[in-house]
Amino acid sequence: SDCLSCNDAGHLVISGCDTVDLARQYGTPLYVMSEDKIRETCRRYVSSFQTNYGGNGRPIYASKAFSCKEIYRIVLSEGLDVEVVSGGELYTALQAGVPASKIHFQGNNKSIGEIVYAVESGVGDIVVDHPSELMQIQRAAAENSTVASISFRIKPGIDAHTHDFIRTGQIDSKFGIDLISGEAMEAVRTALTMDHIVLKGLHCHIGSQILEKEPFVHAAEVMLDFYAQIRDELGVVFEHLNLGGGFGIKYRDEDLTIPYEEYMAAVSVAVHSKCKAKELPTPKIFIEPGRSIVGEAGITLYTVGSVKEIPGVRNYVTIDGGMFDNPRYALYQADYTCLIANKADQPADYIATIAGKCCESGDLIQEHTALQTPMEGDLLVVLSTGAYNYSMASNYNRNLKPACVMVSEGESRIVIKAETYEDLVRNDV
Ligand code: LLP
Repeated sequence: SDCLSCNDAGHLVISGCDTVDLARQYGTPLYVMSEDKIRETCRRYVSSFQTNYGGNGRPIYASKAFSCKEIYRIVLSEGLDVEVVSGGELYTALQAGVPASKIHFQGNNKSIGEIVYAVESGVGDIVVDHPSELMQIQRAAAENSTVASISFRIKPGIDAHTHDFIRTGQIDSKFGIDLISGEAMEAVRTALTMDHIVLKGLHCHIGSQILEKEPFVHAAEVMLDFYAQIRDELGVVFEHLNLGGGFGIKYRDEDLTIPYEEYMAAVSVAVHSKCKAKELPTPKIFIEPGRSIVGEAGITLYTVGSVKEIPGVRNYVTIDGGMFDNPRYALYQADYTCLIANKADQPADYIATIAGKCCESGDLIQEHTALQTPMEGDLLVVLSTGAYNYSMASNYNRNLKPACVMVSEGESRIVIKAETYEDLVRNDV
């Protein structure tokens, strides 16, 4: 990522901060996030909305990728809205000062408590995943003498045979209301009759870490065809269309990412031409990126413990973190780039399996990956860990969640403190 460089000492540098100094100052394991990179990505998305839609729409940060008070403040100050998927993310966003009107509340199977919390807080957009949520929202809104703004999450049902990159979208099929069967039209019809609900638009999300434009274009077309059908059958034209997130990032050099501007341009061509063909006013367009806003902006620093060489089998390099701070290899065999941060100028000709400290053989961060020759005490860094690492961390084995430091133009500051042992027993009775 372009926030990374190597200094004369051969140390990896992130946004002007030497990673060796960061490790010394804050300890390891340590999440480090580049505020500069996050802001730059936000600005690229925002300016794409200027270019493609004359500003009629905006990006929404999908905060499941990384949620803490500071990230909400940063994306808010860049003009983004915020997506949350639980009462906990909603609480954090509100605590950070995000206006409720800028919050989009997603999630399948929201609890009654979460729905009441969202309605009472005045969340600007509750994204309904199933028609049964409608009655709960209606009731909560009536009790608060208010009207809840909602949208529906739609399963666009894009044909997997012609577009096999959508397969992840099908795995996601517990989400949303089916378009093809007519369930979605029924839900729209029902919502329009409810006096404490105003239906503002529709939403779809087709998957994550997608490295092609076509599925996004196709989803936009399918959704706008449905907008035209709704207008024709029910005489209603929606205010906004949310096309979800899913833009892929680079985990390894060979990952072929598409510049966000290109996704945005391709989708906007489809949106404008479909609206023209169907004589629809262009709705306000939302997108909902998470990974692409924070993923490449983050790295994780670890201290190397032992190096265990098993001749002819593999070389284990053990670190002071593991699946409790980054479960993505254990869960998805996710790719990562690792290097020795204090030897970043040396050749990566040592093949290593990076093992964590949990009591579990599957606690690996990467297998058979190329590194600079490691030694006990070296600083191992894993790149592109800004998304779905801290947010998916756990206390397995009662390990402590590491601190997170934000760096910008050579300055660093703690944005999440490291957990302590007292934190671990706080709720134990
Ligand atoms: N909107 C909705 C409704 C979503 O479900 C998601 C991600 C996003 C937006 C953001 O997608 P992104 O731009 O981050 O791809 N834990 C997995 C990723 C799960 C993504 C779930 N939904 C991982 O670590 O790869």
